[in-house]
Amino acid sequence: MDMTIRSRRLRSTPVLRKMVRETRMDASSLIYPLFVTEGEDKKEEIPSMPGQYRYSLDRMPEVLTEMADAGVPSVMLFGIPGQKDECGTGAWAEDGIIQRALLKAKKEVPDLYYITDVCMCEYTSHGHCGILTGDQVDNDKTLPMIAKTALSQVQAGADMVAPSDMMDGRVGEIRHLLDQNGYTDVPIMSYASKYASAFYGPFRDAAGSAPSFGDRKSYQMDYHNRLEALKEVKQDCKEGADIIMVKPALSYLDIVREVRNTVDLPVAAYSVSGEYAMIKAAAMKGWIDEEQMICETTAGIYRAGCDILLTYFAKEIAGFMKEGRIG
Ligand code: PBG
Repeated sequence: MDMTIRSRRLRSTPVLRKMVRETRMDASSLIYPLFVTEGEDKKEEIPSMPGQYRYSLDRMPEVLTEMADAGVPSVMLFGIPGQKDECGTGAWAEDGIIQRALLKAKKEVPDLYYITDVCMCEYTSHGHCGILTGDQVDNDKTLPMIAKTALSQVQAGADMVAPSDMMDGRVGEIRHLLDQNGYTDVPIMSYASKYASAFYGPFRDAAGSAPSFGDRKSYQMDYHNRLEALKEVKQDCKEGADIIMVKPALSYLDIVREVRNTVDLPVAAYSVSGEYAMIKAAAMKGWIDEEQMICETTAGIYRAGCDILLTYFAKEIAGFMKEGRIG
């Protein structure tokens, strides 16, 4: 048979398959999202995210050490405050949950790199990501609060801030305030294209941050749109973002690829709580192989073009990379 091109030739042994692998990844690009809460001696399992917990500050070092030992270099902290109010003042309080978490984390596990989510929804009594005027989130009233929150986190020790509120102009506002205060070297990872997604459901259970009325569609993006993501990304680049994020990941791999091809900044993808919950639930039913599913979805997200991956499976993925199963 006259067939010179045989693609199977390069698939014939494990060594060869690995040699010609197109997508390379390693644990240095993983970020683990972590929930911290008030109280003592708490490691509460999140019902819709089996294997994920809310930690009180005294128990938080356990999980930080686990991550460091696994080779996961960075965590993204989310705070669940004891009290919420109309304006979300707990977000920037000097003794707020995140600010105290940062002080303790940096002291006890200083080798990790600490990123903070900058948003108001965990701190407002109405659960929206900003200040309300009537029943609308007021963009321009929210901006100074978001910037103030970012500054207070940096003052408490955050190495990087990641605004997730989706107000227009927030990257510029944060950059300006950080610079004014001498923090010119603290990077901003912008949740630039963040879609209004049902995949955040388990996170909102975990953080008690579901909106008490309405939804987030007037500030998070419509999932029918692609060009709008590029517009958001370009605007955040202009305002001084250092890293661009696409969120969620699995249903938005086309966006990850397109953003990768469009910008010259590092691109992060956030594989969100609902993506974690789907794999866990199906695995608990015995319907899928959890480990293989984690490996395949992870490689898929990197193949789409991300440089950085935020995932609740960070520790497991770092383990699979070490074993050489992926990477
Ligand atoms: C805060 C925020 C959310 C997530 C990250 N930051 C929730 C939301 O926008 O409702 C979701 C993360 C996840 O689902 O894992 N605004």
